[in-house]
Amino acid sequence: MASDRPRVLSGIQPTSGSFHLGNYLGAVRQWVALQESHDAFYMVVDLHALTIHPDPKELRARTRLAVAQLLAAGLDPERCTLFVQSHVPEHTQLAWIMNCLTGFGEAARMTQFKDKSAKQGADRTSVGLFAYPILQVADILLYQANEVPVGEDQRQHIELTRDLAERFNGRYGDTFTVPAPYILKETAKIYDLQEPSIKMSKSASAPKGLVNLLDEPKATAKKVKSAVTDTDTVVRYDLVDKPGVSNLLTIYSTLTGAGIGELEQRYEGKGYGALKTDLAEIVVDFVTPFRERTQQYLDDPETLDSILAKGAEKARAVAAETLSQAYDKVGLLPAKH
Ligand code: TYM
Repeated sequence: MASDRPRVLSGIQPTSGSFHLGNYLGAVRQWVALQESHDAFYMVVDLHALTIHPDPKELRARTRLAVAQLLAAGLDPERCTLFVQSHVPEHTQLAWIMNCLTGFGEAARMTQFKDKSAKQGADRTSVGLFAYPILQVADILLYQANEVPVGEDQRQHIELTRDLAERFNGRYGDTFTVPAPYILKETAKIYDLQEPSIKMSKSASAPKGLVNLLDEPKATAKKVKSAVTDTDTVVRYDLVDKPGVSNLLTIYSTLTGAGIGELEQRYEGKGYGALKTDLAEIVVDFVTPFRERTQQYLDDPETLDSILAKGAEKARAVAAETLSQAYDKVGLLPAKH
């Protein structure tokens, strides 16, 4: 058993027909690496996805699709615990306790909530969206996670998790591990290929800026080749003056293992065209087998379901133990069987 290893936990939403390059480089890639050294729990957060009112059939299909993509990316159910959030009812149970510990103003200050609710308008903003980060707090604390591998956009939610863990521990006695964010500087934020000042996101305004891993590789190559750069010609990493080129260098470097300095040298005097053409090929070489592996997992739903059943069982064993401690600490009367 891996129980003497530090524990990591993370989650991804099944809200799109494909993961994008930001999800992969910012988070999932680290999940794959950490399963070798950590006691790792990874989940598809279908309850969080409900906050955007998905079509029920589509949500179910995308949950399976998310699991298939995680396996295709390299998660190994022998090395990590892979499960679906709603299969472990303790998440919503602990979330209630955390709701009662969170200030209204504190939740209202979450920037992701502010952005999303501003975009959607008050009428379409649910209490679920407001409480979204608090369910995430419960996700993390249930597993006594030491670290949470995510992209930069999740940092504030991890801060909230730390605050609530400390508040609970202070009020009721030591119960929860206070987790740290695990955010790699280089890939903390992958940018939109057309608008390199904003993060790559499934809700991108221009589809050309978003690299979905399951898109046709040819279409993806085209997107990379038409990435926005600048009017200069020098291939140099400089996030302030050359955000577009810097983003391409980050992607190139992470997918190949070549250092940024090495790449700057390699493309000296060659201009952006050569860089983009080569990167397009690198991305295509990455997504082509990824798509095939994802399809293979989708074609075998029995194996997928059995992986998820085992994952839920392992996750529940940990979650139930933590929840019963929390219930006891806050003074809920135990049910007698
Ligand atoms: P989600 O589904 O939006 O994104 C999954 C992961 O991808 C990262 N990411 C990025 N990283 C770098 N650059 C980008 N452009 C980029 N876009 C997305 C995200 O930071 C994330 O790590 N609230 C979470 C899901 C969640 C969770 C949890 C995470 C629910 N419970 C518990 C950790 C622990 C979310 O919406 O991720």
